Order: sequence, then C-alpha cells, then structure tokens
Amino acid sequence: MHVVQANGAEIPAVGLGTWLSPGEACRGAVAAALECGYRHIDTAQLYGNEAWVGAALADSAVARDEVFLTTKVRRDLLRPDQVAASVEGSLQRLGTHIDLLLIHWPSRSIPVADTLGAMQRFVERGDVSHLGVSNFTAAQVREAAIHAKLVCNQVEYHPYLAQRAVKAACDGLGMALVAYSPLAHGHLLREPVLDEIGRAHGRSAAQVALAWLIGQPGVAAIPKSTNPGRIRQNLDVDFALTGEERARIDALARGLRTCAPPFSPDWDPS
Ligand code: A2P
Repeated sequence: MHVVQANGAEIPAVGLGTWLSPGEACRGAVAAALECGYRHIDTAQLYGNEAWVGAALADSAVARDEVFLTTKVRRDLLRPDQVAASVEGSLQRLGTHIDLLLIHWPSRSIPVADTLGAMQRFVERGDVSHLGVSNFTAAQVREAAIHAKLVCNQVEYHPYLAQRAVKAACDGLGMALVAYSPLAHGHLLREPVLDEIGRAHGRSAAQVALAWLIGQPGVAAIPKSTNPGRIRQNLDVDFALTGEERARIDALARGLRTCAPPFSPDWDPS
C-alpha cells in the first residue's frame, strides 16, 4: 500500500474507519485489519471506542511505530482548556501516542487559532505527531492553515460527492484529503457503473470506488467495516483504472452527502 505525503506526514493510503464500530466489534476489526496489513487506523473521541482501538493495538504483533493512528477532538470540547483535558483522556484511553490529531468539526464560536494552539502543546510535548482538521470547508481549511502546520482535512468523499473545492484547497496547502464514508455509507455498493468496471478487473464495486479515490494524488481513504473478509478486500485496492474508467466514475458525482448533521458548516457547492 502506498503512502500519501502531506506536510511531513506519511499517511498510508487506506486506513480502517471505526465510526459505528462499538466495543468488541471495534477491537476485532482493528485486530483483523492489523493482521492483514493495515497500518492506518482512524478513531475519534466521539465514537466511544478509543479504548478498544488502544487494546487491539497493544495486543497486536505489529510494532506500534509501524501504525498511523488518528483521533479527533469532539466539537463540543474545542475551548483550549477542554482540548487539554480531552486529549489527555484520549491518550489515556488509547494507551499510546497519537500520530494525527484532528478537530472533528469546525466551531461557529471558538476561534480555530485557539483550539489549534491548545492542540499544538501536545505536539511540543511529543504525544502527538501531526495536526489536522475534519469537515472543514475550503475557506475554513485555508484559515486554519494560517495558524498551524496541518496535514489533512478529513471529509466525506466518494464518487457520488465530487468535493472539488475542498480538494483544490488541500492541494494548494500541501495537505492530504482523507476520505471518510468512501463507499457513501453503502450507497455505492450497488452502483452499476462500478460493478461493470469491477468485473473487468475481477474486483467488487467497493474496491473500484476505493481504487478511484486512492489513485488520486493526495487522497487517502478510511472505509469502515467490522467484517474480516471485507476488511481484507478493502486493502486490496492499489490497482490502476484506465483514463476512460476514471472518467465514467467522475461522471457519477451527484452531490450526495450521507453525513450532514444540523451543525454542519455551510458546505462548498459540490
Ligand atoms: P460492514 O461493517 O458490515 O462490512 P462507509 O465506509 O462508506 O461508511 O461504508 C461502510 C458500510 O459499507 C458499512 O455498512 C460496511 O458494512 C459496508 N462495507 C464496507 N466494506 C465493504 C465491502 N468491501 N463490500 C460491501 N460492504 C462493505
């Protein structure tokens, strides 16, 4: 699996997503992923499973420094004093250092410079290697990057959601775009175009969507699964699509957001 280089970070192009993977299911998924070759695991304070991710990492035969671990600060804990306490909690639950610490959602009230300043203290202390953001618009990511060295913006991205503005902003800042819900939360699994292209490569629709994503410079993807067979399948996606196949997949874009809670920012047109 190739890595995405982004402002000093080396992010494995496929990681395991753990949103909606609770408790033992999460621990089993992380264990299965590490065993079959994943070296990138994504969690968040909000998911309530950091301790299970940490337990799977601790039990694994894979050396900790071979794995790229991401977590995210909750959107209701972005004041500097709250950041300090909540990241201490993440470090305790994970039982290990954090490779990438993200702001989970942009705040409408707390200046991003203040939040990033508090996160930066953990970088200086050596408990966090890199900082980034998640669910930021193009304008928000440009503003945030003034205040800290950021390595990614993690956003929903898949063939049904083009994300042109956010991608251009990340490219311009040397940041990676990490695609969450890269299978559109399951909506892409029965997409006939992906199915047809998959048949030509002996791959599934899910694998074609992931190959389309990580075939783009600067893009990593974190498909979620708790099923060992599908976890393995989602790592076997470093294959080339033809220009014509890519163009057919590009044409599937339809502005579908599967994750748009009421506190979302004013999304870029997509
Ligand atoms: P499961 O955990 O049972 O495998 P996304 O990452 O876009 O949010 O998609 C996650 C959904 O897609 C989950 O419901 C997951 O279910 C399912 N999924 C993940 N990988 C695959 C795959 N390779 N084939 C079919 N379904 C998949």
